[in-house]
Amino acid sequence: MGKVLIIGAGGVGQVTAHKCAQVPEVFSDIMLASRTLSKCEQIAAQLKRPIKTARVDADNVSELVTLIRDFKPDCIIHVALPYQNLNIMEACLETGTNYIDTANYETPDNPNFCYDLQWKYHDSFKDRGIMALLGSGFDPGVTNVFTAYAKKHYFDEMHELDIIDCNAGDHGQPFATNFNPEINIREITSNGRFYENGEWKETEPLSLSRTYDFPEGIGEKKIYMMFHEELESLVKHFPSIKRARFWMTFSDNYLKHLGVLQAVGMTSIKPVEYQGQEIVPLQFLKAVLPDPASLGPLTKGKTCIGCIVKGIKSGKEVEYYVYNSCDHEEAFKETGSQAVSYTTGVPAMIGAMMLITKKWEGKGVFNMEEFDPDPFMDKLNQYGLPWKEIFLKG
Ligand SMILES: NC(=O)c1ccc[n+]([C@@H]2O[C@H](COP(=O)([O-])OP(=O)(O)OC[C@H]3O[C@@H](n4cnc5c(N)ncnc54)[C@H](OP(=O)(O)O)[C@@H]3O)[C@@H](O)[C@H]2O)c1
Repeated sequence: MGKVLIIGAGGVGQVTAHKCAQVPEVFSDIMLASRTLSKCEQIAAQLKRPIKTARVDADNVSELVTLIRDFKPDCIIHVALPYQNLNIMEACLETGTNYIDTANYETPDNPNFCYDLQWKYHDSFKDRGIMALLGSGFDPGVTNVFTAYAKKHYFDEMHELDIIDCNAGDHGQPFATNFNPEINIREITSNGRFYENGEWKETEPLSLSRTYDFPEGIGEKKIYMMFHEELESLVKHFPSIKRARFWMTFSDNYLKHLGVLQAVGMTSIKPVEYQGQEIVPLQFLKAVLPDPASLGPLTKGKTCIGCIVKGIKSGKEVEYYVYNSCDHEEAFKETGSQAVSYTTGVPAMIGAMMLITKKWEGKGVFNMEEFDPDPFMDKLNQYGLPWKEIFLKG
């Protein structure tokens, strides 16, 4: 039915390729392309049906254009790094191809976490008659769809939104990140930000915390407030929201190691000179930390990511919690990747499915909450990320 080009052969690319390959009735032809061809070939060899592979440098627009013209995909799922978003969007414009990603654009020297530079493409995508779907991972991604689902079915007005991301998995390593260490540490060491009464309020990194009692046998964990990009689009598209915050769990051990690395300058993105060569400390740190892909067979436990929404329905107060819990070992058994990659790759595949099957249609640049959440929620249940809902009030 449709041709999909997946760019990026890391942990998320691996899950996306597995999940697309499981749905031949939608993804009739699949190509996986990345900077290192052997990683694409390794993933292709795990699959039950043949897919094409290619080498591409996604920092190079003309290389991308040549590859796209050759394969002619209906849509691109970009799961390489956020540095490549604009290049791939440019290549999509040049070739008239639909675009999906899972993280907002960042420049290597500025972890800016904002959608402006991608939203600016709305008119050119619209004029070209193509669609860009931004942030089709779990958070952003499913959390946006959860919020849209809450609004559609249970609220006249949403007033407060708390997105809570818990990874209760244990990989037994002294210190490791669950996805690309460079992108992950840039996010965590940035200032926190939350939205209150029409204003963004900034906080010192991880300076606000509380305890949350998670379902699914996970229990109490400490959660830390930080900024996450979906807050920006959600308060834009649901203007009744008065307060929006994002929280993530970190273990004491993780924070202890991160604190030391920060204190000695190893998480800095400012280049330093070393033996006559410029190196970025964080990029060097990435090179010595465990590759997130190597954590797959080691990680045990579950994730639990969801949204708590407070607001009003028919004049009554409602508090609603919707979440998914994903088991690391089950994710690994199915796709060879742990649950953090799994919970990103499955929604990336479903986003492409929405687009190719025309359940979600549009010309321009869109965030996930701008479409009908129902078909996406159905597919989450069908393709490995079942969700649950609890009414805490109302
Ligand atoms: N929304 C969410 O919930 C969520 C959650 C987790 C991750 N993410 C996003 O998912 C993306 C992938 O994460 P990951 O953990 O899979 O990262 P990863 O394991 O580091 O994989 C990134 C892949 O991109 C490839 N790549 C990097 N630069 C490239 C370039 N210039 N051209 C072509 N390929 C290039 C890398 O190639 P090499 O192998 O040659 O290095 C690698 O295969 C990231 O953007 C991350 O922010 C989103």
